[in-house]
Amino acid sequence: MLRPSNASVPCDQSGVARAVAALRAGGLVGLPTETVYGLAADARNNAAVKRVFTAKGRPADHPLIVHIADISDLHEWAKDIPAYAHALAERLWPGPLTLVLPARDDTSRLLTGGQDTIALRLPAHPAAQEVIRQTGALAAPSANRFGRVSPTSAQAVVAELAEVLDDADVVLDGGDCSIGIESTIVDCTSARPRILRPGFYAEELINDVAGIAGVPVSAPSDLPRVSGSLPGHYAPSTQVTVVQPDDFAGMDGARLEHALVLTTEDVAVPSPAAHVMKAQDALDFARILYAALRRADELGVQEVLVTTPPAVGIGVAIIDRITRAVHGSAHMNP
Ligand code: TXA
Ligand code: MG
Repeated sequence: MLRPSNASVPCDQSGVARAVAALRAGGLVGLPTETVYGLAADARNNAAVKRVFTAKGRPADHPLIVHIADISDLHEWAKDIPAYAHALAERLWPGPLTLVLPARDDTSRLLTGGQDTIALRLPAHPAAQEVIRQTGALAAPSANRFGRVSPTSAQAVVAELAEVLDDADVVLDGGDCSIGIESTIVDCTSARPRILRPGFYAEELINDVAGIAGVPVSAPSDLPRVSGSLPGHYAPSTQVTVVQPDDFAGMDGARLEHALVLTTEDVAVPSPAAHVMKAQDALDFARILYAALRRADELGVQEVLVTTPPAVGIGVAIIDRITRAVHGSAHMNP
């Protein structure tokens, strides 16, 4: 149990030093990144990596992302790296991009969930980079319990995991995540890139930088094992319902009163609505989406009423996460 007095530490020199010491001692660290917070362990310490699975309640066959500090570290974990994967790394790292590559024979299959491929990412958050530089590669899934909403603030990490962390573990407070949804995952194990999870970097950009037409984004049933691709993932306990902007005007007042509304600034929401969050644009929408889902659970409202942005750019990823939240929350509220 993480004591409340110890809940999170500021991202200054002493906070980073505590995080580094915890990781070197085999502990876990709630790590800020530009996408979402990760739950990090030394990627070369099997006991620490096993604790990540236990803390999250994550099945052992769901692979982790290994976070590295330098592009050249790719070769420590992956082999047979295609030229287009190098191009993606050179242009889009550091940043919200994860590359799935053939794993080296000596790469721990604990990290890969038993598969012969490894997911690698070089995050842009300066504190994450500093910690990785000092400790070496870190295995870090999103810092939420399995199937739940990824945390985008240190407070959300503490709320999610305080009970399963020890006092020797550290949550590093790097502020609110600037992107707010998880990295774009690109499978680079074939002749053409294939997006496994949409994110901030859209399909057109990935194909453009790769210099090859990618495999078009496929139906969920075709995807290899990506835990975030389970239909009910990224879900709050509160029921999530997608509505059209025009629906609010005719909506029952009591329904609005007991809901959290998440929409954009141009949408008029009638006054009975007690809890309204409005995004300025699609980027802002991504930034506040998970905080809104968490807030709904904290408030104990009956429903999240959400409108979706257009399916372009980051909008594709937002719609993906909202769709999964709808499925997951429906499962919890049969
Ligand atoms: O933005 C992010 O990617 C965040 C931050 C913390 O870096 N991390 C994150 O990790 O979202 P996680 O574990 O919650 O999601 C990683 C996804 C999972 O869906 C996992 O199945 C997939 O990456 N993945 C990992 N290794 C893979 C592999 N070898 N092949 C296919 N998918 C893989
Ligand atoms: Mg996750």
